[in-house]
Amino acid sequence: DFMNEIMGLSVLEKQIKDKLQVEHVIIVPGNSDDYEWVKQDMGKACAAFLKKIVQPNNTIAVTGGTTMASAADVMTVLNKENNYLFVPARGGIGEKVENQANTIASEMARKTNGDYRLLYVPDPLSESAYQTIINEPSINETLQQIKGANVVLHGIGDALTMAKRRKTAETTIAKLKTNKAVSEAFGYYFDKDGNVVHKVRTVGIQLEDLSTIDYVITIAGGKSKGQAITSYFKQGKSDLLITDEAAAEQILRGS
Ligand code: F6P
Repeated sequence: DFMNEIMGLSVLEKQIKDKLQVEHVIIVPGNSDDYEWVKQDMGKACAAFLKKIVQPNNTIAVTGGTTMASAADVMTVLNKENNYLFVPARGGIGEKVENQANTIASEMARKTNGDYRLLYVPDPLSESAYQTIINEPSINETLQQIKGANVVLHGIGDALTMAKRRKTAETTIAKLKTNKAVSEAFGYYFDKDGNVVHKVRTVGIQLEDLSTIDYVITIAGGKSKGQAITSYFKQGKSDLLITDEAAAEQILRGS
């Protein structure tokens, strides 16, 4: 609105920092529910931040989704001399190929002249398949690289939107409704207080691994995600939130 225009978005950024208790916040103008370029602007902000913080030979783990796909579209070379390794943060969690973490990792590697490793793991996994897969040497090697990631880039979604997009079983959707799931990230579903109410069993980064990662960068915007973003930040670790004006205003409106 008018105030944001004359003050720049820095006032809003400060308010979001306080509200969500996150160290860094970057807000881009607009509403990414309505315009694709807003997602790209969040992606550009992410690329600029990455340039400042990545170290030679860092491993960068990424999640899937349309926001991360846009971030990959606008990614540019981070630093010519240094080699970066891109990996998917977790096994596939039911996205279309273009929005899968594997695709995004390989695209980011291409754009930055970096390297990538992929994970070919179906999901959700049964307990026995899970145990077999994590002990498979080639998969185990990639999993070690993922667990050793220095930077994680991830999206957040609205819980029921994501459950439907993944064609989740009706019984699980019912469970999410009963437990009032609000947000989703990394295959975890959270209620408004940040409690995990459901988790997709798959390999890769688990919620508890985030605390040991140097930089967790969250990219999520759009008015429709205001509540979801607030919910994730009650629990999930993040060092930087990149969002848009519409989501930020919605976050401040919420209780
Ligand atoms: O499925 C991967 C994922 O990163 C989810 O964890 C997240 O909820 C979703 O994608 C975000 O997708 P989008 O950016 O399309 O809203």
